[in-house]
Amino acid sequence: MAMKNAQDRYGFIAKLLHWVMAFLILDLVVMGVAMTGLPTGEQKAQIFDAHKFLGMTAFVLVLLRAGWRLIDTAPRLPASISHVQQRLVGVAHGLMYVLMLIVPVLGALVAQSAGKPVPFFFELPVMVVRDEALHEILAKIHGACAMVLVGLALAHALVALAHHWVWKDDVLRRMTRWRRQDLRPR
Ligand code: HEM
Ligand code: HEM
Repeated sequence: MAMKNAQDRYGFIAKLLHWVMAFLILDLVVMGVAMTGLPTGEQKAQIFDAHKFLGMTAFVLVLLRAGWRLIDTAPRLPASISHVQQRLVGVAHGLMYVLMLIVPVLGALVAQSAGKPVPFFFELPVMVVRDEALHEILAKIHGACAMVLVGLALAHALVALAHHWVWKDDVLRRMTRWRRQDLRPR
């Protein structure tokens, strides 16, 4: 299987990073929402630690993914998709990248502004001092940006499913199928 993208399909590395990150981000959002309501205690602290670790993992993966995206040109969308729609897809993908980058950075600032460390193989250098008011604001922005990211991702997933079931083209299959012969002949 090709590691790199071709003109009409994603390669193994782009697919792997896309699906691992999709799973991780959806998991982090559910975890984030569920954990904030827990009573203070050992269990809450452990879940916060797991959220921070998985969130930092998502950050490292998105750095790798953004770097790979610069090296490996994305496949072209089918010609049946209008120029305006292609621009919209580009904007939506770009926005998701920006959010995937800033949400974890904000998360680290949320933890540090509460005076909590961010251990991740090594401890992250302190970027903000402990400040209760700042912590409240950062926590709200972190949560809101995560919600915008997941909202965009869900809308994007619905469009991908519509390509498959309604418009019956290969847009979903070229991100899901692992073997060349699984794509429809053109
Ligand atoms: C893509 C990565 C991430 C996503 C999607 C995400 C998502 C979320 C969500 C949805 C919440 C709940 C917000 C609320 O209900 O107010 C939350 C809370 C939180 N996240 Fe993240 N997070 C990510 C990465 C991180 C990272 C890397 C850290 C720290 C290193 C972090 C630290 C926190 C903390 C401390 C809270 C609790 C905020 C509070 O006290 O209200 N997150 N996260
Ligand atoms: C948190 C969840 C998700 C995020 C953040 C996300 C993000 C992205 C991004 C940034 C791209 C652009 C290509 C790249 O650089 O990798 C992409 C492509 C794609 N995604 Fe997602 N995605 C998510 C979930 C899903 C789901 C659930 C589906 C399917 C039901 C899906 C289907 C696709 C398809 C088909 C493409 C290729 C579109 C094209 O050919 O241009 N994604 N996704």
